[in-house]
Amino acid sequence: MIFKHIISVSAAIILLVTAGTQALLPVTSAAYRNVANSAASFSAWQLTGNPLTSVTPDAPDSPSLISLSSTDKSVTVNWTKVKGATGYRVYRYDFKTGSFISRTSIKNNNISSWTDEKVSSGTAYKYKVKSYVKIDGVNYWSGYSNTLCTAVKPQKIAITKANRTYDAVRLFWEPVTCNGYQIYMYSPDTKKWQYAATVKDPSADQYRVSGLKRGTKYKFRIRAYKCDADRKNYFGSFGNSFSVTTKPEIIKKNGITYVEGILIANKTYALPSNYNPDMDSSALNAFYKMQRAARNDGINLWICSGFRSYSYQQYLYSSYAARDGKAAADRYSARAGHSEHQTGLAMDVNNASSSFEGTKEAKWLAANCSDYGFIIRYPKNKESVTGYKYEPWHIRYLGVKTATAVEKSGKCLEEYLGITSKYK
Ligand code: DAL
Ligand code: ZN
Repeated sequence: MIFKHIISVSAAIILLVTAGTQALLPVTSAAYRNVANSAASFSAWQLTGNPLTSVTPDAPDSPSLISLSSTDKSVTVNWTKVKGATGYRVYRYDFKTGSFISRTSIKNNNISSWTDEKVSSGTAYKYKVKSYVKIDGVNYWSGYSNTLCTAVKPQKIAITKANRTYDAVRLFWEPVTCNGYQIYMYSPDTKKWQYAATVKDPSADQYRVSGLKRGTKYKFRIRAYKCDADRKNYFGSFGNSFSVTTKPEIIKKNGITYVEGILIANKTYALPSNYNPDMDSSALNAFYKMQRAARNDGINLWICSGFRSYSYQQYLYSSYAARDGKAAADRYSARAGHSEHQTGLAMDVNNASSSFEGTKEAKWLAANCSDYGFIIRYPKNKESVTGYKYEPWHIRYLGVKTATAVEKSGKCLEEYLGITSKYK
């Protein structure tokens, strides 16, 4: 709003002076007075010759706030320049104190942007601006501009750890100042990052993503958000992307462990002492088929040890332990209940000794056994995972499909299924 002033001298010269135009003001000792811009006021005003003693120059126009732009460390305030203004003052509303405070005074009409760097991440603010004109050392202020709101982006979120089950993952992070968190997941199916969930609690430090596929690798990342007073969201950056593989399905039936439907006997998973299935007929038939194919290639294969009962394994292990000590025996012989030979699905081929390694039979077996549904169960350099030294003669029947998949993966069976092999 522009106020106009009527200035009178004895000759009744009336000047209308526009806001902020100091130069137009005739500074004389003449009588003058300020009235609101109203004809009524003017007509009521009498030119009595009584000198009036002061004038209030026009206040400048209020600037308009154009925009606020925020990062995670600052807010930049942009406003319109006001013609004739000497400078501006920027005010910030703090929701904690519930009041506006003056943040800066800008003594330059050409500046119409200012960056507030003393802000807190994940925090909402409002801003407004005033302009002023300085005349004879006195500041004359405009009204306030419009008010705009924003929020400083929250800090980025680092996922610190994840707990997993076979169909869910619980993610953990350090909470920050914000309104909540968005969880994103990299789907192994779509091979894309996709929105997974919103946690509307700023103090939350964990979230459980459920409905996942078992034994599957997922990636997660999280960002925090903060709303401004208009409910617009400001997002912090994503921190690390965190990989986690869900656990396989592990089912125990009659004391026998099945991982993803595969019967497992290793140092972690034992068989009951009365489990006495003898040699599995499918495994045996697959071996004979392989044996015939090998013979066609001039390779002679035979089973030197197939099914072994709990009690026979007990006898074997205790003999080895007595001879070499328990620690050494544990590297090549299973304790009773832990031998794969008790499953009826495993067999030793030709010669269960290190002299078998590198023979043409061993090479043929390694190159072809998956075609018949077998894997070399204790591969080279996997002792820390399988719990056993390399056994090029020990094969395990899985069926062609699974054996081929394990072979292709380059992993041992424990790695392939995501399980351990360690005595408790
Ligand atoms: N030699 C294998 C590990 C067993 O004793 O079952
Ligand atoms: Zn064996």
